[in-house]
Order: sequence, then structure tokens, then C-alpha cells
Amino acid sequence: MGPFVEQIKGYKNLIVALVFLVWILYFIVSLPDSTIHRAPGPRTASISACKSAESPSLLSSLPKELANLTHLLYWPPTPGDEGDILASTSPQTSTYRLRGPAQASYALGGYLEAILVARDHRGRPKTHGGDLFRAQLLGPGLKAGVPGDVQDLENGTYLLSFPLLWAGQAHVQVRLIHSSEAVGVLQRIWREKRATVDFRGYFRGPTGAEETVICNVDPQSTGAKGPTCQYRDVVSSELWFCAQPPTLPCNSLVGHSSGSYLKVTVPHDEALLAWRVTDKVLRQGISPIQIRKAATGKNNLALPPRPPCRPGLRASKPSGFYHQDVWHSLSCSGRTFSTADRILGCLAGHVIHMIGDSTLRQWWEYLRDTVPSLKPVDLHGIYQVGPLMAVETARGIVLNWRAHSWPLRCLRAPVASLHSVAQELSGLAGGPHTVVVLGLGAHFTTFPPSIFVRRLAGIRAAVAALLAREPRTLVVIKLANTGYKSVYGSDWFTLQINRLLRAAFADLRVAFVDAWEMTSSLALPDNIHPGRLIVSNEVDVLLSFICPA
Ligand SMILES: *[C@@H]1O[C@H](CO)[C@@H](O)[C@H](O)[C@H]1NC(C)=O
Ligand SMILES: *[C@@H]1O[C@H](CO)[C@@H](O)[C@H](O)[C@H]1NC(C)=O
Repeated sequence: MGPFVEQIKGYKNLIVALVFLVWILYFIVSLPDSTIHRAPGPRTASISACKSAESPSLLSSLPKELANLTHLLYWPPTPGDEGDILASTSPQTSTYRLRGPAQASYALGGYLEAILVARDHRGRPKTHGGDLFRAQLLGPGLKAGVPGDVQDLENGTYLLSFPLLWAGQAHVQVRLIHSSEAVGVLQRIWREKRATVDFRGYFRGPTGAEETVICNVDPQSTGAKGPTCQYRDVVSSELWFCAQPPTLPCNSLVGHSSGSYLKVTVPHDEALLAWRVTDKVLRQGISPIQIRKAATGKNNLALPPRPPCRPGLRASKPSGFYHQDVWHSLSCSGRTFSTADRILGCLAGHVIHMIGDSTLRQWWEYLRDTVPSLKPVDLHGIYQVGPLMAVETARGIVLNWRAHSWPLRCLRAPVASLHSVAQELSGLAGGPHTVVVLGLGAHFTTFPPSIFVRRLAGIRAAVAALLAREPRTLVVIKLANTGYKSVYGSDWFTLQINRLLRAAFADLRVAFVDAWEMTSSLALPDNIHPGRLIVSNEVDVLLSFICPA
């Protein structure tokens, strides 16, 4: 059980552990309801836990952005109208209109602003905010689209703003993803449930006999009546728990898989109704508009002067838009890599380590499928968790993908193949030829935010260490994309996850690929595994960071 050696070895690991502990402490202190974000204390763990002292001096080494999670995860509150089924926000009665007078045409480079009034099922205006609306400006004839900014004025009114980035036709589309009442349910689940899914751990004894138990991110959620087995990542101190098998020892854990989705009861009828109106388009409130370029202008696009793509850039809002199915970043001058030769030319001499979930595996698959000379190597890996590898020997390209470790929902996979992100990063020398791509989020929406914060603490420390020993290493963070609309995974959870991801790496020299906006801009159905058009544009952003010029 190499990765799970219990003792923290060496000074570096001690520091990582201290940073992690202090971060968790900070997290607990800064949340309004501290009872629900208890760190999973090793209780009857059969492998002894390592205790570390907390050092206040380390507080200053944490990113400022993460210090106040109450602020970071703020969402306008929904007062409880328990039992009033018709008081939740309705997509049928909510309307939006232009903020100013309608114009015959609009100037390229300007903005279109609109006011949205949320109403309940009786048609009464809402008096509080908290609804999750998603707005888009679409130009279907031009294969164009951009996410609109939705500002919650917290009195039932929302301000919508759309940058006018292409010349030609455009129309507004607004969707109610979740009413504030439904968000209230998600919020309660996020705070009160330790876990809404569980996992299976497979233990194998010397005779080959197997025992299967429930595993999870905290000891209580393993359903164990008796002792639990605790597994601690030697690099990041991340914890994992399994009920102790009836006869086999803790160190005979060999397999991992998804378990069950746990029953999540929605408390009130009102909330049930709120759930029925998930992801509904509002009646069109604004006629299609015409965007004209300046009389002297040559360009059909309003692209500001942008620097080449490099890590550490400030994020722009929105981060980009589509035109003719090509994503144009607004923060850096991205490039398109439309042929296998161009991709090969960019990747030449690089080793790319992708570590994340299946949405990141899509990037690996896209490159494998698009570049014929990039040959996949059968490492006898389990496809769902990897490791996957593809190589191009003539130009010296190695492309790896492997899953982030638990809490991964997957078919049965060897535990030995589940390496933590921190563990993988700690084994990389880094350098100008090394690219690290991280893509986590979708598997963390079924636990309280403290679980993801703890994971990010370890990953952040590992990224910081990698960049300290080799500053020329390129680290790219793929944000989580839109898709799920359930109590186990939803766009609302994903928004929160992305806030944590942004904050965790805010002060490090890393690059972001805003997969949230890249999957929010076109009139395509949300899909947790986006189609090839989106994936190819996401990979182009990655390649733009590897090859900015
Ligand atoms: C954290 O943020 C909340 C909400 O924005 C604010 O009320 C509180 O004062 C902040 N706490 C600290 C310590 O800055
Ligand atoms: C909502 O708040 C905004 C900004 O404070 C204000 O301009 C607007 O009149 C308010 N609307 C209502 C219906 O109270």
C-alpha cells in the first residue's frame, strides 16, 4: 500500500499537512454554519492517524481569495415559504425586456442590457434573488454565441448584459436553470449531507477470497457499525475511509468502484415543484437585433488587442465567445489548430500529463482521434481510470491521461492505479517541455464543499512546489463544465466548484480553460460530456497556451 503509508515523512510533507490543517480550520471558522462542515476526524480508524500542530504563521501563506469562503460561496438567501407550492419562481411568468429603448441596430463593440423580473407561479413578482438564470446572446446563422452576465439585484430583479462581439444578427435566450427555491434545496443538501453517493471497496485475502464494503470520504458515510479503515495520501494527507471488512485487514484493499446514489429526500412540496421547472427557456422578451460594424470598420468581430496566451493572465468577463464555431478568447490571442500537422507541430517535444475526470479524458481522446500519428499505447490500464498514453516517436510527444483518485465514480478499478493528483505532481521534475493539465470538479458535487477544499489544498501545494522547482512548467486548469441538473450534480454546484478552483489557484502562475463558458455559449443542449465541437475548441485553448506564437 505504498501511497497510503501512514507516517508523514520529512519536512516537506509536514508543511503540506500543516497548510492543509490550517486551511480546513480557516474554512470551518469562516462559514456561517460550522456544524455542517466538520472535517472527518479519524475516529476508530484501524490505522493510526498522524497528529500535527497548527501554526498560525502559515495563515499568511494561503491565497487571500480563499480566506473568506462565506464571501466566496455567497449566494443570495431564499427565505423559507414552506408549504406554499406556488411561491417558487416560474419560467412561465418571469419576463425580461430591454433596459433602454429599442434601436434599429446596435453598434459592434457595445452592450445590450436587459431587465429580468422573476415571478412566482401566481404571477407575483419575487422580492428576493437567488434564482439561477443562464442567459445567452446567440447568432445561429453565424454559429456565434456568448454567455450573458446575469447580475442578481437580490430583489427579484436581474440585470442582464451582453457584449456585442460580432456583426450581424443576434437574439437573446434566457433559461431558468433552478429557481431560488430549488437552489435552497441544493444548498441544504450541500451543507447537511456528508455524502449523497457511496463507493465500494474490494479487499482480497491470501487465498483469493474477496470481501466488499462501503467506502467514502468520511467514516460515518461508510455505514460502518464498527471500526473503519483509513487511508491517508502520503503526499497530500487526503483521507479515504472504508468500513473494516469482516475478516481481511485494511491493507488488503485492492479494488474501487462507484456504489449507490443515496436517497436524497426533498423536504417540501414546494421544493418538489421547484424541481419540476429545472432548465426551462423563458418566453422571448426581446426581438432579434442587428449588430452593425462601424462605417469605417473592416472587422466583423469586436476583438480587443490581446496578449499571447500565457499562464497568470487575468480572467476576462466573459472569457470569450464563439463565431463560425471558433472560440475567441477575450483575455489572450488564441490560435486554431485545425489540422493534425499543426497540432503535431505544437506538441513536438512535449510531455503532457492530463490528470482529472472523464471530461478531461475527452481531450486525450480528441487528440488521439485527430492526430493519426499519435499512437495510443496499451498499458493494460483500465480505460475508465487510466493510465492512458499516446506517443509520437518522430517528434517526441508523450500524451498521458489518468483519473484523479477517489471520490471517483467508476467501474471497478485497481486501487493501485488511483494516484492522487498531488502524488502524481510530486513525481514530476517539470520544465519547459512539461505540460500539466488538471480537470476536477464533477465528482465532488456529492459532498460538502469542505471535501473539495481539502483536496484543492493538497493540489495547490503540489502545484506551487512544482512551479517553484521548475517555473517553466506549464500548468493548465480546466474548469468544470455545465451538464448535470440533479440533486447529485447540477450547474449550481458546478458554479460553486469553479469559484473554489479559481480561488485556489488565483495567485499561482497557471492557465485556465473556462470550460463552463465554453459550454454555455451556444444553443447546444448541456451535456456533461460535451460534443466534439466544444472539445476541439477547448483543446485549441490548451494548445494556444503551449504554443502562444
Ligand atoms: C467574510 O465575508 C462575509 C460576507 O461577505 C462578511 O460578512 C464577513 O465580514 C467576512 N469575514 C471576514 C473575516 O472578512
Ligand atoms: C431592485 O433593486 C434595484 C437596485 O437597487 C433598483 O434599482 C430597483 O428599483 C429594485 N426593484 C424593485 C422591484 O424593487
